[in-house]
Amino acid sequence: MILVLLGPPGAGKGTQGVRIVKRCGVPKISTGEIFRDLAASGSPLGLEARSYWAQGQLVPDAVVVGLVKERLSHSDCDGGFILDGFPRTVTQADILETMLAEMGRKIDGVLDFAVDADNLVIRLSGRRTCPNCSATYHVTAQPPSIDGKCDHCGSMLIQRTDDTPDSIRVRLREYANKTAPLLTYYADRNLLYRIDANGAPDEIFESFESALTKMGCGPNASTELSAGLVR
Ligand code: AP5
Repeated sequence: MILVLLGPPGAGKGTQGVRIVKRCGVPKISTGEIFRDLAASGSPLGLEARSYWAQGQLVPDAVVVGLVKERLSHSDCDGGFILDGFPRTVTQADILETMLAEMGRKIDGVLDFAVDADNLVIRLSGRRTCPNCSATYHVTAQPPSIDGKCDHCGSMLIQRTDDTPDSIRVRLREYANKTAPLLTYYADRNLLYRIDANGAPDEIFESFESALTKMGCGPNASTELSAGLVR
């Protein structure tokens, strides 16, 4: 199964992605996480990427595409994968389509997480992440058991440098200008599942579980979509 997660910053792609990984047993490839790890390791590419993402701007297509291509060549992607944060431009989507065709593969579905703008800002400004294992929390909606500490590895949680008001504004603008056109792109290919992602995380996951089944993930594959989904 090859799945693409779409949606504006803070829509819950990462949060739902973790649930999809558990259910479908395929790896989640987050380009944002790859960039943050590279920057933390001090690699020149990571530092170059940071000069864009720290300000909320998209990293140039050429940089992103090379990294994704390399990541998809790993054997853990043989049984499928989830792309979280890629593609983010029509150019990236075209390149992905060609890349997959060359591998004899294709996208099974694109999940678009739609969230109201006010809710996005609340989610991003309250997000805390673990710099060690990338687990994500929210100060009110999904707090850790012990304040400021990761439940999984005990590391001190941090606020992402691009979760500042200025950077959030730029990220939302970048999304509207460069990523939102992908909704039409994938709707035209009959791959788009639109999900109302304003509710609680578990409710949202339940609303698209049947779509995952239809894509071949899970024991009860069927061709029925759940009522909450608009395809
Ligand atoms: P990336 O890391 O992908 O960031 P993003 O797309 O801005 O998405 P986020 O991680 O901010 O949000 P999310 O949708 O995963 O939400 P989350 O689950 O964390 O990319 C970072 C940067 O890297 C980009 O800005 C860009 O510069 C660069 N980049 C990456 N890929 C690129 C590409 N392909 N091309 C060019 N540049 C690229 O949830 C957010 C918060 O809300 C959390 O606190 C969570 O706990 C909370 N929450 C989630 N769901 C709910 C819910 N249902 N109810 C209440 N709270 C919730």
